[in-house]
Formats: sequence, C-alpha cells, structure tokens
Amino acid sequence: MSAVANETEVKDFSFFQCPGCGGVLQASGEGMACEACKHQFRVTDGIQELYWSNDWDSSRRDVTDEVKAFYEDSPFPNYDNFDSKDSLAKKAKEGLFARLLDEQIPAGARIIECGCGTGQLSNFLAIGNREVIGADLCLNSLKLGQGFARRQEIDKVRFIQMNLFRPPFKPNSFHLVISNGVLHHTSDPRGGFDSIARLVKPGGYILIGLYHYWGRMITDTRRVIFNITGDRLKVLDPNLRKERTSDVKKDSWFNDQYKHPHESKHTIRETYSWLDAAGFDFVKSIPTTHLFKDFSPHEPLFTPEAPAPAPEAAIKEFLEIFKGSQEGGFFTIIGKKRS
Ligand SMILES: C[S@@+](CC[C@H](N)C(=O)[O-])C[C@H]1O[C@@H](n2cnc3c(N)ncnc32)[C@H](O)[C@@H]1O
Repeated sequence: MSAVANETEVKDFSFFQCPGCGGVLQASGEGMACEACKHQFRVTDGIQELYWSNDWDSSRRDVTDEVKAFYEDSPFPNYDNFDSKDSLAKKAKEGLFARLLDEQIPAGARIIECGCGTGQLSNFLAIGNREVIGADLCLNSLKLGQGFARRQEIDKVRFIQMNLFRPPFKPNSFHLVISNGVLHHTSDPRGGFDSIARLVKPGGYILIGLYHYWGRMITDTRRVIFNITGDRLKVLDPNLRKERTSDVKKDSWFNDQYKHPHESKHTIRETYSWLDAAGFDFVKSIPTTHLFKDFSPHEPLFTPEAPAPAPEAAIKEFLEIFKGSQEGGFFTIIGKKRS
C-alpha cells in the first residue's frame, strides 16, 4: 500500500456528508446537522448516529431491520472478559491475516470498516496508528467497540452508526475500505459492494470477506443437525470446543453461524465482475484460485496476482467444500481502484 505512506495524517472529519441528501455536515451540539436538509444526527453514548434507511420501493426485499434487530440482541463477535489492548493485539497477530494487514498497511492510512460489529479489527488497526472509522448499523455492537477503545485508550478509532447502503461519506475518501462478513447479510450484496466501493480513493484498496458457496456447506450441514437435535451436539463446531473462549463469545458465534435470519453465498469468480464494473483491478483472493499455491505466511496482500484460468479456479473453489469448517467457509478478495 505504498500510495498511502506519503500522505499526511488525517485529523479532520471534512469527508463526512449527509447520508440523506449529500449535504455538508456541521457540528451541532454534541452531534451533527446537515446544512442543506437540516436533519439533526444525535450522539448516543459517544457514538455518532448517521443511520439512514434504504428508500427502496416496496417490491424489493429489505432485510436491514431484521438483521439490525438480530445483532442488537447478539452483538458479534463480542469480547472475552479478559480482552485488553495487548491481548487483542496478541490474538489478532496469531491469526495470519490480521498480522499481514498490520505489517502491510502503513500508519496514517485512513480506513473504514463497514459492518465492524464489535470493532475488534477497527481497534486493532487503530492501535497501529491508522485513522480508522468503525461503522455498523448495530448500536449495541458499536458501544462494545467504543467502550473497549475508551478503556484501552485507543484514540485513533471512531465508531459511527451507518447503513452501508447510505454511507455518510464523500466518494473517494478512504485509502482502504474493509467489509468482512457483512455483504452476505444484506438483501443486495452487489449493490452494497458498489455503495462502499465508491468510498475508496483512486489508487486505494477494497477488501471484502464473503461466505463461500462451497465453503459454507459444512456449516449448512451442522445447522441442519442443530435444528433436528434442538441445538445439541454443539461440539461439532470446532469454535465451540475452544476452552479459552468465553461463553458470551461462543453464544455470539453460534447465533451468527447457525441462527442468522439472512445470508447469501458467493464465489470468488463472481466477484471479478463486481470489481471490474466498479473500476477496480483484481489484486488477490484468499484462498488463491491456483490449485497448487497456498497462502504464504509472508503473503504480500496488496501485490497483484493474476487469477488462475477458469477451469483451474473452478476446481480450486469446489475444494473449499473440505476447508470451510473452521472459519465458517469464508473467502476474501482485495481490489485496487484504478486511478
Ligand atoms: C457477521 S458480523 C461481522 C462483524 C465484523 N466485520 C467481523 O468480521 O467480526 C456482520 C455485521 O454487519 C453489520 N451489518 C449488516 N448489514 C449492514 C448494513 N446495511 N450497514 C451496516 N452494517 C451492517 C451487522 O450489524 C453486523 O455487525
């Protein structure tokens, strides 16, 4: 991400705009107000509310309220009682992907995480001196993220409530837009992608995590078993067997994986056209689409890698059926916005 390194650190919030009309937002009391439409946006427990509903016509299904209610009841992924700044960083670095992000995203980068949940990744990236916005529609999740940041004195992160279909930001505002495990919980993953892709600066990056069509099969099978057995046999899920994980986090994982009101599944190849149409070049997918290439512990995340030819990619994607057990059958794509 060398394009980021030379830019000065961003300390102002001039890149906000009204999520309703696109007007200029100004400070107003504790919150913000739109100069054009005069809408007032409140602050609750230190969280700037900038949520705006979809104004889709009634024939279009909209699961936003249902999904919001689900996460207000069961914030995800939640924190363990013993989480601290150090344990968060330690745990994140034990996961290869977070460590690589930390090593490869320069300090000073302006990042938004759309659908940050309880904000672990946002907080972790902010510890490394990046300017991070953690954005989600669920206030209870945001409060947990914000509470953690305050207690641990992480001052480079700011949590806001927003609907990713109506982001309160000017286009081309961020060096990196992350949305991990979110778009597949919306009624329109492709439309959501287009919406947040607009926020990336030319030369900046987008990183999206989605449920994989084949990788999700084992989770789907377990869901059927849980439904039949009245949620017995939870030991079938490796994450629910971990001794070091608190019951709160286990419940949160179980609900997110097996009780969710809405999810869709995707393939890596499907996202090529999403990227291209939004003005992005494909940089990388994790896993790769190459049959005999594994993800390296030193993988350069932002260095472009050509995808495998279609037949090879199809076989590799099918093999995800055997790998999706641990992380819920997930894949990640990274794209770079053309200048
Ligand atoms: C599975 S959680 C992922 C949380 C976090 N990214 C992670 O990887 O741990 C999905 C999150 O997406 C949020 N979300 C779903 N639809 C959204 C929308 N339209 N706008 C903003 N956030 C949304 C939910 O509130 C929830 O916190």
